[in-house]
Amino acid sequence: MNESSGLIQVEAVSRRFPLDHSYVNALDNVNLRVAAGEFLAIAGPSGSGKSTLLNLIGCIDKPTSGRILIDGVDTSTLTSAPMTALRRRKIGFVFQTFNLIPVFTAAENVEFPLLVQGIGARERRERVADALESVGLSARARHRPDLLSGGERQRVAVARAIVHRPALVLADEPTANLDTLNATQLIDLMRDLNQRLGLTFLFSTHDARLLEHTPRIVRLTDGRVTSDTHNAETPGAAIPPFQIPSEGASHGQISALSL
Ligand SMILES: Nc1ncnc2c1ncn2[C@@H]1O[C@H](COP(=O)(O)OP(=O)(O)OP(=O)(O)O)[C@@H](O)[C@H]1O
Ligand SMILES: [Mg+2]
Repeated sequence: MNESSGLIQVEAVSRRFPLDHSYVNALDNVNLRVAAGEFLAIAGPSGSGKSTLLNLIGCIDKPTSGRILIDGVDTSTLTSAPMTALRRRKIGFVFQTFNLIPVFTAAENVEFPLLVQGIGARERRERVADALESVGLSARARHRPDLLSGGERQRVAVARAIVHRPALVLADEPTANLDTLNATQLIDLMRDLNQRLGLTFLFSTHDARLLEHTPRIVRLTDGRVTSDTHNAETPGAAIPPFQIPSEGASHGQISALSL
């Protein structure tokens, strides 16, 4: 990790999408620097560019202009194969619709990124058990997603995102399909993992209620960064440790699962 430059450097990044005979400026000259170990929210109304920014940082898309460095590596210089390798090694994703594989158990879903990386069976078993334990779901390891609540599904997705020990976890509206209780619990869980394991988290939301425990909030409006707020109270403040919800906790609104 290159300490001087930070984990993520977004430098003068713009992303344009063609639209009819014109184009949309989804991001317009965005600059952002994120250090290892930060817990950061990208906030802003619908269409402000949150997903576009996360896709660029996650090496899923490339900027129209500007450049993004991940751990000192300029991703604009990478061709497809090294970009995929960097993404698999360094980044974990949590999606709005969970994206679990329906015929796999919770443990098999969490194991999947390790299989892709060719990690051996014994290490896979240990890491999957650790990841499920860290999200409070050891007892659900053999359940398939259809037997889990929305909140539990998203916690499995978080376990899958951290199991390969990425430098960075990106979560695009991870709470959008959860009710308020499950949404708050998920953000608290991510913050707990951030503090306990030192994992860097970037998540997007347009729900202001979820920003309470977020030490840094970057706001986007029409593709531009309009504020970058550091909450001086939060970083040192102990948040209550993540509590495993009771069996009766309300289920989130469950959306269709897709890969
Ligand atoms: N592939 C694409 N082709 C054309 N326009 C796009 C594409 N992706 C995003 N856009 C446009 O770019 C702008 C930013 O979109 P983006 O999805 O990043 O917003 P967002 O902040 O994530 O919104 P939401 O909160 O609704 O998810 C929008 O105007 C959107 O219509
Ligand atoms: Mg979005």
